[in-house]
Amino acid sequence: MMKQIEQIERLKREKNAIILAHNYQRAEVQDIADFVGDSLELARKAMGTTSELIIFCGVDFMAETAAILNPDKKVVIPDKGAICPMAQQLQVEELEAMKRRYPDADVVLYVNTLAESKALADCICTSANAREIVNAMESETVLFGPDRNLAYYAGKTTSKKVIPIPQHGLCPSHHQIVMSDVIEAKNAHPDAKVIVHPECIPEVQDIADYIASTSGMVKICKMPASGDEFLIGTEIGLLHRLKKEAPDKKFYPISTTAVCPQMKMHTLEKIASALDREEPEVTVPAGIKDKARRAIERMFTIID
Ligand code: 13P
Ligand code: SF4
Repeated sequence: MMKQIEQIERLKREKNAIILAHNYQRAEVQDIADFVGDSLELARKAMGTTSELIIFCGVDFMAETAAILNPDKKVVIPDKGAICPMAQQLQVEELEAMKRRYPDADVVLYVNTLAESKALADCICTSANAREIVNAMESETVLFGPDRNLAYYAGKTTSKKVIPIPQHGLCPSHHQIVMSDVIEAKNAHPDAKVIVHPECIPEVQDIADYIASTSGMVKICKMPASGDEFLIGTEIGLLHRLKKEAPDKKFYPISTTAVCPQMKMHTLEKIASALDREEPEVTVPAGIKDKARRAIERMFTIID
């Protein structure tokens, strides 16, 4: 492992590269990254870097977003198999059909979508700003996809009528965190606060003390007044960062099986190879790229 870390550090210096990693990455990947964050922070970081080569340790839609926002930089994903299953659940044909059925509704798409779907959206959002973005739309009815649980959250926290597209879009890793897991965890740690990601099912969201994006969860847990013990309702990779950044507090996963296998595909070996060979590169076709960028940039104009 030490040899691989040295190789990664050397290649990074030689190539003026930056390693960006999502909060769900393996512990050793988070530890060698230049920046670890949620999908919104990673998009911002990719835009702000002066590095010419971005090694993106996350899933496909995140690396695509970095490539869309940085046409002059090279974005490389260590394992091209890191494909988010939720992003695949919204097909362009279904989106077009729903747009025809609700011509007056604005379309807000979660960043967890394919670039070709983003190209058809009025605005993109992440879990950190879904409420704000949906609220900022002019139409009273908003089409929202592909996560029906985040659509539920956006509908509940705004006055908009939020219609999920498709009807059953979900994240397999969050969907399997169920009420009995929360009850069991609460029985074992009665004083702990429940903090969950808005990709969790409505029942779990409804009994949580806090709902936030992955980095939002880190911020809340670090606040002195938020509590000393937490039950964490998201992918278990976040526990590494929480324990590192708030060593005096206690964290327990609500479900130890909440694992995103695609997020775990990047290893130190693959990162070293990606740095060395500068591939596999992430590219988006020009026509799609420009339209998708417009929808992503609109998000930044609303939240900034
Ligand atoms: P965040 O935006 O909170 O990082 O979430 C992304 C994601 O894929 C959660 O499953
Ligand atoms: Fe996609 Fe769920 Fe994995 Fe996030 S945790 S990348 S939504 S499959």
